[in-house]
Amino acid sequence: MSSDTLPPYLNIAPDTARDDLDPPVGTEAFGNIALACQQGRDDLAGRGLDETGAKRLRLFSTWEITKYLIPVAPAHFRRVLRQNPDLPQGRSETEGGAKWFTLDEVLQLRVHFAAQGSKAKAYLPYRPEGLPAKIVALANFKGGVGKTSTCAHLAMSAALDGYRVLMVDLDSQGSMSSIFGARVEDEWGTVFPLLARHYGETLQADNQRRLERGEAPVPLDDTLSQALKVRTQDVIHKTHWPNIDLIGAQLNLYWSEFQIPVWRMQSRGWKLWDALGDVLAADGALADYDIVFLDTPPALGYLTINALAAADILLVPLGASFLEFDSTGRFFDMLHATFASIEEGENTAARALGRPEMAFEWDAVRALVTRYDASQQAEMAGLMQAYLGRTLSPYRQDFTALIGQAGESVNGIYEADYRDFNRETYARGRATFDETYAEFKKLLVGIWRREELARGQAAAE
Ligand SMILES: Nc1ncnc2c1ncn2[C@@H]1O[C@H](COP(=O)(O)OP(=O)(O)OP(=O)(O)O)[C@@H](O)[C@H]1O
Ligand SMILES: [Mg+2]
Repeated sequence: MSSDTLPPYLNIAPDTARDDLDPPVGTEAFGNIALACQQGRDDLAGRGLDETGAKRLRLFSTWEITKYLIPVAPAHFRRVLRQNPDLPQGRSETEGGAKWFTLDEVLQLRVHFAAQGSKAKAYLPYRPEGLPAKIVALANFKGGVGKTSTCAHLAMSAALDGYRVLMVDLDSQGSMSSIFGARVEDEWGTVFPLLARHYGETLQADNQRRLERGEAPVPLDDTLSQALKVRTQDVIHKTHWPNIDLIGAQLNLYWSEFQIPVWRMQSRGWKLWDALGDVLAADGALADYDIVFLDTPPALGYLTINALAAADILLVPLGASFLEFDSTGRFFDMLHATFASIEEGENTAARALGRPEMAFEWDAVRALVTRYDASQQAEMAGLMQAYLGRTLSPYRQDFTALIGQAGESVNGIYEADYRDFNRETYARGRATFDETYAEFKKLLVGIWRREELARGQAAAE
């Protein structure tokens, strides 16, 4: 065998390799690398921003509106606009060219069409009056399975559909916060103070009982006293989407993973898993929004446990590969162990005190195949379907180059301008995420309907 056909790893000369090396690396090098990344990131992010440094949502054309958002014939759409000069009329880039609208305008138009249009078409999304928002968690301790992408796309489709969405980023990597253009200074701009407040309130109640027993109260430290003043609304950011708000994340949020167990040690009765859900409910977020999406980190830490316990709907994305299937199986195993042990701990105490027992319950749990390649993964996906049955959604979210390729400022299909793509490619990529949303919306609507009927029945009895 001549040397030029040798595999690349068999002809490495030690002296050449040594000459290629840089000197050994110290801690400060990490700081420099981080700085370089930060500068590059700001450069990239800056390209999608307006003069004030805020992200801007693109406009929507008549074609897109009448095809995807308000399903009426384009001619009818134009006629209704002409007949109602008070409605948003859109703007065109060229004389007589296609009309473009902001999402706010689309939402106004939808209300008009819903009030005037034929009753058979459901222009406005369904939500029974008086029932709380649904909380949806995307979780899997396997990384890179599509949690954040699916979560962001679901939030955007729900917003296009007219729902009011609150997005909560629980991953200290802050990917979701970047997608929605939020700049979070430190942990005080994340859910951290809300969790701290929940603990602080527990401690206050404990102290009340201590005082009644004639014991000394446990003092609240500065963090807790500060956190007691923070409301959900204080940490909510507006985004460039008129009907998507965000609670962001930042690296310091990771501190919660160390702080929460310490608090729990100090107050054994603190239901740490209920903190997020309780605070969102207490502050009225479940009335202010229709859907709350929780994006979680690739770990089953305390933040993820809070998300899972708060969730009504749990979506577990995974790819149709052996490793992801295997790892997802272990994730469910960990969920079982974690929640069973919380129930066991709570119910042992409840039984001793003669109180009713508790059990966690989810309205729906679905695993969802993401990044699916039918030409390579059909057999694997079929096998997963056979074993998981109804837990695995039969719908498979295709791999689409549109997400990976979406440029520096664009974070997904719904933010991309379809004119940048071949229309066929765009339609296929978009259909993938429209279907993902439709699968989710079936669950959402079905669950609300189930509750609406149960409420009617309870009232009749
Ligand atoms: N349907 C899809 N088609 C093509 N690429 C996809 C699709 N869904 C996700 N991806 C890509 O896969 C990668 C991982 O996705 P994502 O960040 O959503 O995963 P994640 O589970 O949130 O990861 P992490 O565990 O790090 O939070 C990203 O590069 C994303 O662009
Ligand atoms: Mg993620």
